[in-house]
Amino acid sequence: MTLLEICPSLRAGMSSPRLDSGVWPCDTHYDDLGRVTLGGVALSDVADQYGTPTYVLDESEVRRRCRAYRKHFPDAEIIYAAKALMIRSVAAWVAEEGLSVDVCSAGELTIALAAGVDPRRIVLHGSGKPFAELEAAVAAGVGRIVVDSLTEITLLAALATRPQQVLLRLSPDIDVHGHPAVRTGVTDQKFGFPLGSAQATEAVERILRQPMLHLVGLHCHLGSQIHDADFYGEAVRRMIAEMARIRREHGIRLPQLDLGGGHAVAYRGGDPEMSLPVLADIVEDALDAACSLHHFPRPRIAVEPGRAIVARAGVTLYRVMTVKHVQGGHTYVIVDGGMNDNPRVALYGARYDAVLVNRHPTGARMTATVAGRYCEAGDILAHDVILPADLRPGEVLAVPCTGAYHHSLASSYNGVGRPPIVAVTEGRSRPLIRRETPADLLARDLG
Ligand code: LLP
Repeated sequence: MTLLEICPSLRAGMSSPRLDSGVWPCDTHYDDLGRVTLGGVALSDVADQYGTPTYVLDESEVRRRCRAYRKHFPDAEIIYAAKALMIRSVAAWVAEEGLSVDVCSAGELTIALAAGVDPRRIVLHGSGKPFAELEAAVAAGVGRIVVDSLTEITLLAALATRPQQVLLRLSPDIDVHGHPAVRTGVTDQKFGFPLGSAQATEAVERILRQPMLHLVGLHCHLGSQIHDADFYGEAVRRMIAEMARIRREHGIRLPQLDLGGGHAVAYRGGDPEMSLPVLADIVEDALDAACSLHHFPRPRIAVEPGRAIVARAGVTLYRVMTVKHVQGGHTYVIVDGGMNDNPRVALYGARYDAVLVNRHPTGARMTATVAGRYCEAGDILAHDVILPADLRPGEVLAVPCTGAYHHSLASSYNGVGRPPIVAVTEGRSRPLIRRETPADLLARDLG
């Protein structure tokens, strides 16, 4: 099924070179003035009302993505990886759509609980969980804790006064060839235990010796931006073989297999992305084959998408501050945001598009580099994008596909506070997170 079939409204956008149906939210249109609208709201009106830079979030798109996961994985548990974007509204939306929530700190746990997420549907992750965070999680009654080290087993055993379900994180030695910063399925990295290693066996034994710790399954996370579903098929085969070995050696049958997240989204038109129907088929086939090979009863599968739920629902708005044509060099469009609200370009070499949204450009176009306002030469938002040649200061640019790992990675470098998040849906906008102000910066500064 193509995206155009899922969201026919995109057809309008297809007629213009400005919007690529692969990266914008489904409910993106033009109004009569040629302005780009999202969720029925003109983006330039959002910029006028809330200032810039501003993260805009399309609630319907978040819900649509949750439903797509539930449709394609009807028997699986879908766990939203909150690190992609954790604010109360998003936690509430995904919970309403039937998803569980994965948190990786006491802060994310607090937000999930404040949003009303049932603690039993919360999974706690982390490679170095502080004692106080484990304590908070156990006290809150979180459903499962993913054990990442031997130390953690000792701490949890000391903390749990009632049965606590745990998953054991293993690295199945699958190299998805991603950016080194986000390649987690290989053996030599900091997360979990290498599958088949003596430490993994020791971890299983230690958990089983603790009466309050109930080992309910295995977990793995292969990495980020994975578009080839075969990697997950291979993970299923290796993890089921390990579950069969644990049954043989320890006499317990684990009922859950969590395959982590990492499903790719397209940041620019033409980028490869994970196909949910293909992923579902491959996981299903691998599960059938591996379970029958090992005569192992099918565990319940869990997947942990973060980016694939929220990335496309987000668009960031910037105002053009100035346009500089460097003689013999590039044309720089300098905007009022940058690496504080989007560090992904500097961190991972991510590539984005940028589009003028306050009018429909009809004249000549230019190739430009959209650069930020911060005091670093590497503060770039988008390389080599096509923009109108008559672009002027004060106009509004939007960068699509910024819903995941933007707000959650944002900083207040150079004393510039983090942008607000404004939700748009059914023709209305409402602020979910307010802009961080100099007063907020001063409030933490004890002098
Ligand atoms: N589960 C676990 C255990 C994870 O560590 C992660 C992401 C996920 C699920 C969700 O992965 P997703 O579906 O969102 O790819 N800051 C980087 C991404 C770091 C991801 C870390 N772990 C970025 O901006 O690309």
